[in-house]
Amino acid sequence: MTTRLAVVGAGSMGAQIAQQAALHGIDVALQDTDEAQLRKARDSNQGHLARRVEKGRLSSSDAQAALDRVRLTTDLHEAVADAELVIEAVFEDLAVKRSIFGECW
Ligand SMILES: NC(=O)c1ccc[n+]([C@@H]2O[C@H](COP(=O)([O-])OP(=O)(O)OC[C@H]3O[C@@H](n4cnc5c(N)ncnc54)[C@H](O)[C@@H]3O)[C@@H](O)[C@H]2O)c1
Repeated sequence: MTTRLAVVGAGSMGAQIAQQAALHGIDVALQDTDEAQLRKARDSNQGHLARRVEKGRLSSSDAQAALDRVRLTTDLHEAVADAELVIEAVFEDLAVKRSIFGECW
């Protein structure tokens, strides 16, 4: 099983993918060029996890562990350096997507 994942792009999709992976015990590097977007992703995920805790579907310690498993970074190379799997979730713009793959591989 993959234990180290990098998610490129911390928008709606990237934030959720990172959270779901972290809930399953995977260490995630969540990367975005926009720091504000990274903070927004963390706040959004914190809110989702808190609601699960309130509903009794998740323990608060598991919620905190999932949150802690997602490392935020603006550095693409650092994010993918030790990843076993990379998921790209940036804007629907082929040129941007190509430049990311070109930069890292
Ligand atoms: N939102 C959906 O329901 C949905 C469903 C299916 C597929 N998708 C696809 O998933 C992808 C992401 O969609 P989304 O809704 O999360 O978009 P979004 O607009 O919410 O987020 C895109 C993120 O990409 C970041 N970004 C842009 N350029 C970047 C770069 N060079 N490096 C790193 N980060 C960069 C932006 O800062 C932003 O945070 C798109 O290809 C979209 O078509 C989205």
